[in-house]
Amino acid sequence: MTQSALQFVTPLTFQTLSGHPVHTELLTPEAEYAMGHIALARWAEILLIAPATANVLAKLSHGLADDLLSTLYLAVDCPVYVAPAMNQAMWHKPITQQNLQQLLQQGVKLIAPESGEQACGDVGIGRMAEPASICARVMQVAATQVLHGKKVLITAGPTREPLDPVRYISNRSSGKMGYALASSALAAGAEVTLVSGPVSLMAPRGVKAVYVETAAQMSAAVMAEVPHCDIFIGAAAVADYTPEISQPAKIKKQAEQTTLNLLKTQDILATVANLSNAPFSVGFAAETDHLEQNALDKLHRKQLDMVAANWVGREQGGFESDQNALTVFWNTGQQTFALMDKTILATQLIHLIATRFNEKHYAKNTA
Ligand code: PMT
Repeated sequence: MTQSALQFVTPLTFQTLSGHPVHTELLTPEAEYAMGHIALARWAEILLIAPATANVLAKLSHGLADDLLSTLYLAVDCPVYVAPAMNQAMWHKPITQQNLQQLLQQGVKLIAPESGEQACGDVGIGRMAEPASICARVMQVAATQVLHGKKVLITAGPTREPLDPVRYISNRSSGKMGYALASSALAAGAEVTLVSGPVSLMAPRGVKAVYVETAAQMSAAVMAEVPHCDIFIGAAAVADYTPEISQPAKIKKQAEQTTLNLLKTQDILATVANLSNAPFSVGFAAETDHLEQNALDKLHRKQLDMVAANWVGREQGGFESDQNALTVFWNTGQQTFALMDKTILATQLIHLIATRFNEKHYAKNTA
């Protein structure tokens, strides 16, 4: 927070609302001991200045470094975003526009102010963009960098196990979670292959889609693609059992009772995760009870790098819904994502996967 910001809101308010420490001073003995401005600059993945006043734009464009914010701007090596907010007349002043242009030429990205009624009563351009759209922009950027150049293979949707030419055993998966992950991985810079069971969704443009119907077909498609991938995410609800015999003609309704003989399908995820050159393997766990216990069992038994556990068969989230909540487990930690839109959840999950993937590779390469 700059000195001007402190005149509007106290650091305590920001600290309480964000749950994070607030930095205000360039040089304080405690700050230098704990996290000085250079450490802060190295730590940051993105620098977002919101609101960015006309004064801040002027200072940054001229390289002034007389407070924590302007010094950070000079010290960071990460993408910088400004979300200007000022009176409409100040926004239109040629010197403000000139300062802004200079910053844009230096690679700073603009989250443009909006038009409307301003705090001072004027009407025009200068209102800071809505916080939600600022967050969306920043998350997009965060995501764009994390999987650059990586190859990601994702399964999605249900499988259908045929009983005869007209009937099959399947489940309620809509493919929404897997398709959202494919979109997010693509936006994160990855080359994405999506192996999809039958769903009524369009594969995101830019994703290589392979359409299958049965668990056996999904397994074959995954095994063909897996040698080329860095990360495998099994979001599909693959049938665990398939009819021993799929009748060539429609089964007639005769007996009062009938029995189906089912055979276990191949566990695609476990097979992939146990390959000698296995990719970073992420499974899902769809549970109706003992979420954590069952998810951890899958993590260890299938030798996964991560497992994303969700409740299914409940009112909210899981199958079919546009929303979901997840608790993700790995060997040394876990993270919970509250109920949210699957598209947003997917972006956050991809980010977490990228972080864990990079940590594993960093550890491997420095061992
Ligand atoms: O498609 P949506 O409607 O959006 O719903 C999303 C979802 C609930 C389907 C998704 O979030 C999810 O949980 N997917 C996994 C469903 C599942 O089959 O879970 P499971 O606990 O039965 O299987 C564990 C893991 O093993 C999964 O990663 C699954 O893909 C994999 N598996 C299972 C059986 C098998 N034969 N091969 C596998 O690879």
